[in-house]
Amino acid sequence: MKLCMIGTGYVGLVSGVCFSDLGNEVICVDKDEEKIKLLKKGVIPIYEPGLSELVIKNYKNKRLSFSSDLRTSVNKSDIIFICVGTPTIKGGSSADLSQIYKVAKEVSTSINKFKIIITKSTVPVTTGDEIEKILSKKNNKNKFAVVSNPEFLREGEAIRDFTYPDRIIIGSNEKKSNRILKNLYSPLISKGALYVNTSRRAAELIKYASNAFLATKITFINELANLCEKTAINIEDISIGMGLDKRIGSRFLRAGPAYGGSCFPKDTKAIISTADKFKTNLSVIKSVVKSNEKRSNILLERVYKILKKKIKNKKITFLGVTFKANTDDMRDSSSLQMIPILSKKGAKIKYFDPTGYKKEFKNIKNVSYENSIKKSLQGSDLVIIHTEWNDFKSLNFKKFVKGKKFIIFDLRNIYSSSKIKTQGFKYFSIGR
Ligand code: UGA
Repeated sequence: MKLCMIGTGYVGLVSGVCFSDLGNEVICVDKDEEKIKLLKKGVIPIYEPGLSELVIKNYKNKRLSFSSDLRTSVNKSDIIFICVGTPTIKGGSSADLSQIYKVAKEVSTSINKFKIIITKSTVPVTTGDEIEKILSKKNNKNKFAVVSNPEFLREGEAIRDFTYPDRIIIGSNEKKSNRILKNLYSPLISKGALYVNTSRRAAELIKYASNAFLATKITFINELANLCEKTAINIEDISIGMGLDKRIGSRFLRAGPAYGGSCFPKDTKAIISTADKFKTNLSVIKSVVKSNEKRSNILLERVYKILKKKIKNKKITFLGVTFKANTDDMRDSSSLQMIPILSKKGAKIKYFDPTGYKKEFKNIKNVSYENSIKKSLQGSDLVIIHTEWNDFKSLNFKKFVKGKKFIIFDLRNIYSSSKIKTQGFKYFSIGR
């Protein structure tokens, strides 16, 4: 099938490349000409394991191409995926849909034969209805169907999540598009993915509901971790004990820092905003957002306690600063809240991240990037393990100590408390 992905951000690029790997002809379109030029040379704008190899392979065999000419690309394609960003609106909490509607207007002028127009971007309920109205204005009667097909890819695991999804959600009541899309996804369905057909509005809501529910699970376990710290209980026992109940499930019950990334913070706020619009109070999700916003302060309070309230001139190392492992994404990472506050209090901060220097800390006083774990640990008073990269999972800390031992605060519960303590380190973790 001939597909066109509009927007070569995370969703569009990963989905486009994976669809081409399944044998489709895919054009990935972006208005950023520089980005398109680089993609043609095999330069990938994001860090995602396995993506670069797939881009190069499918570009070489000509199933994958890149273009900044939206109209011609739409003209040549049967299925158009809208994959542009829906960030939080400036100064508000709803999703900014300006890019979606701009693309819809452009697409409306290029419908030369029947096309399926799909939103893969995360969009609030009724966005599909608006797109349909925009496309109808250009005398396109019976020449298009607007479908919602949300994605559930996790950064760092995106290729795997695309290839082995739990479910494929298709929001459309239209028979022809359903038949075509079931066929498009048949290689994944035959490997066990469930194909769920529902209304367009329901598909739009399923995406937000899923992210909000996962964010709730994480917040729930983070709050319980606070209780465990005061009652000498290990939060991991609680996660295991709860998670074994099939109605609850064990995933997303790892306590840690505030959840971050480009999706959970933005989508929890946007679903509340949609509900407000329809005069519905999503009180559970509202308290999740509030609790998560307080999470970094709770962890900072623990840092102050560990350092006996003497922060000035303390050397603090951050191992990992991205919001999670296997990504270079800094969006809404809890390190962006913690590091500036510690710097303000006079700490001297060094950080190491496997994805390198981060411009986000450029203008923050006393924060420097080190290009190795060893250098970042030298002379440190406190080491904060912020991100669960494999690189940090079996460190022999003794090797890095010259003189006084540093204290370790492990925000991801990577290490066994008893083992680290027998090596003579003061060790603190989350909920245990
Ligand atoms: C999330 C969803 O998991 C995807 O299904 C969805 O497609 C994506 O958002 C999106 O809407 O595009 P992602 O943001 O890449 O994916 O990352 P997650 O793996 O879900 O992690 C989000 C945050 O939760 C991270 O800060 C992570 O550290 C935290 N987390 C996750 C925990 O603190 N504990 C857990 O047990 C799991």
